[in-house]
Amino acid sequence: MLALLNGARTIYKIMLENQPQLIDRFGRKVTYVRMSITDRCDFRCVYCMDEEMTFMPRAQVLTLEEILFLLRAFCELGVEKVRITGGEPLVRRNVDWLMAEIGKLKQTTVLKELTLTTNGSQLRKYAVKLAEAGVDRINISLDSLRQERFKALTRTGNLDTVLDGIDAAKQAGFKRVKLNAVIMKGRNDDEVIDLANFAIHNDLDISYIEEMPLGHVTHQRAESFCSSDEVLAILQTGFQLHRSTSVTGGPSRYYQLAGTQSKIGFISPHSHNFCESCNRVRVTTEGRLLLCLGQEHSVDLRGIIRRYPGDIERLKEAIIKSMDIKPEGHNFNISEQPIIFRHMSATGG
Ligand code: GTP
Ligand code: 5AD
Ligand code: SF4
Repeated sequence: MLALLNGARTIYKIMLENQPQLIDRFGRKVTYVRMSITDRCDFRCVYCMDEEMTFMPRAQVLTLEEILFLLRAFCELGVEKVRITGGEPLVRRNVDWLMAEIGKLKQTTVLKELTLTTNGSQLRKYAVKLAEAGVDRINISLDSLRQERFKALTRTGNLDTVLDGIDAAKQAGFKRVKLNAVIMKGRNDDEVIDLANFAIHNDLDISYIEEMPLGHVTHQRAESFCSSDEVLAILQTGFQLHRSTSVTGGPSRYYQLAGTQSKIGFISPHSHNFCESCNRVRVTTEGRLLLCLGQEHSVDLRGIIRRYPGDIERLKEAIIKSMDIKPEGHNFNISEQPIIFRHMSATGG
């Protein structure tokens, strides 16, 4: 019996090794897909959305079945990590069914890690179901620990609900929940230390993110921009930080906080470009394969899925071909008008 099982495993491994892989013109291997499953959100964070947003008509949005089909194609092409994002992914109806189905791909493909980025508002309702579905890690946005300010930054969010959501994720057994904080001058840069202390006391990791010029928002991004080096300098006034070799396959550079379990990450698309080691692509809510967050090079995968339903080989061919147009990197410039008009909410973070 054991010999049979080992034989089957060997055959499966050989099959996987012979699968085509996703390698671009610069020799970078794509093993990570970020999938936005809705552009809708119950928050309106000032750096992410305009006050008035028009969301995509439902017919343009991929169905849950189409999302699953697409992700299966990616995983058959060597994708090992899938991150589900939005908008707010947990406001999409039947998201728990989708997560459980994606979780099953870990048994049938090379998928190793299923992760989720959320604003935390629905975690009390979903955390246990997500753990059961096989979600490995959760990243939760948290930009302020002060009620009034949290409201001002998210426009519609409630801090207590999110803190309760973080608690729910921990109770559901998620290890190393990570917080994401976008730091903006004059808005929340005085909370850098408080946020780190919150992470330490709750045994969480935290990433500080530089604001990116995606889509039109109501403030001048150049005025609010706060670099990772400035955040690091603030942290060094209160903590001892040691550069860590830890990698998650994401763009964060990590430091370990001396004497604690918490890691501090910096996502610095402006000051420390990480494009040369880029291993990821994104799929927008409407099924557009975006080859870089900061460029418009894309392929309409929804068109292929709807024109040739069930034809996974054709879809895989289109994905392989897309590697030829993956750009070398982004060129964000915070002091100019945005050249990328889509908001982060449609893009998948
Ligand atoms: P892990 O490392 O797996 O924990 O994930 P992550 O930090 O990559 O993912 P998360 O969804 O928490 O994203 C945090 C921030 O990193 C978001 O603001 C993303 O937009 C940003 N980010 C992720 N990938 C890229 C990228 O390829 N380019 C740029 N410019 N930003 C990125
Ligand atoms: N710049 C940087 N980060 C952003 N996010 C949303 N919009 C922006 C932006 N313009 C972050 C959120 C969340 C992640 C998915 O993306 O805070 O943590
Ligand atoms: Fe919603 Fe996340 Fe955008 Fe905030 S950053 S509006 S929580 S999608």
